[in-house]
Amino acid sequence: MKARIGIIGTGWVGTSVAFSTLLAGHAGELWLNDQRGDVAEGEAMDLADGAAFYPACDVRAVPLAKMREADIVVLAAGRNGRPDESRLDLLRDNARIAAGIGRALAGFPGIVLVVTNPVDVLTRVVQAASGLPPERVIGTGTLLDTARLRERLAVKLGVSPQSVHALVVGEHGDSSVPLWSAARVGGVALRDWPGWRVDEEPALAQAVRRAAYEVIRRKGATNHAIGLVTAELIGCIVNDEQRLLPVSRVQDDGIALSLPALVGAGGARPAALPVMDRAEREALVASSEVLDRAFGSLSG
Ligand code: 2OP
Repeated sequence: MKARIGIIGTGWVGTSVAFSTLLAGHAGELWLNDQRGDVAEGEAMDLADGAAFYPACDVRAVPLAKMREADIVVLAAGRNGRPDESRLDLLRDNARIAAGIGRALAGFPGIVLVVTNPVDVLTRVVQAASGLPPERVIGTGTLLDTARLRERLAVKLGVSPQSVHALVVGEHGDSSVPLWSAARVGGVALRDWPGWRVDEEPALAQAVRRAAYEVIRRKGATNHAIGLVTAELIGCIVNDEQRLLPVSRVQDDGIALSLPALVGAGGARPAALPVMDRAEREALVASSEVLDRAFGSLSG
């Protein structure tokens, strides 16, 4: 199926989502919206000019209300982080925008993908404001942190990232939790991999957490990796893949954070949790508390 994909917010991130989605061929129609109407129009015109080089797709700028007719709406509106600002520091500004868009999507029959940071808190904000079921409001969450961890492990071990099965769960941000005890390389537990040193894990976890800051310090924003992450999620939904991915959604306790979910046409359904050791379980609880406090701070 070729879907109608709407992207709200055509800044760095929204346009990278658009570009990756077009090249992947997941969209039959790609609709762009931005508060700066000219910018959305210009981006749509620019992308449409390249139509000879990606699978058939009609790209155009649309009013916000039109997004209700999309199959998937990507929320990429908001300001981006400054070099020394955590994702949670962005909270107030972007929560106001996300709540407004959430309200505009009340009763929406499709799936909302939240990309704007702080993505976990905003996933909860959008779910609450829209009243949509939690499985249909999905944050990109730690799918990006997981990709970063897999890439770094792959380089260290000299294998392809596709052969590294490792997950990061919890907050997409400073309290994210890599699940070392469940990580596998091929079928081998990472911690049994020849030469693997457990004492290197904290530095690697920190490098994954710092990755976005390092990019933002140099170029002002991150956009390409998150664009690819979002297009991958769109593909899983459009093709009803039921792929197991760490994504953010409101969990049973009411807090939105990333845990493995089955991602398909109906959204993100909870899946079995990997076995975690005690330190990982405690870190996940701590991450959840950070996110709950951040959400609580919005009403203070
Ligand atoms: C990233 O991790 C900033 O959340 C964005 O690239």
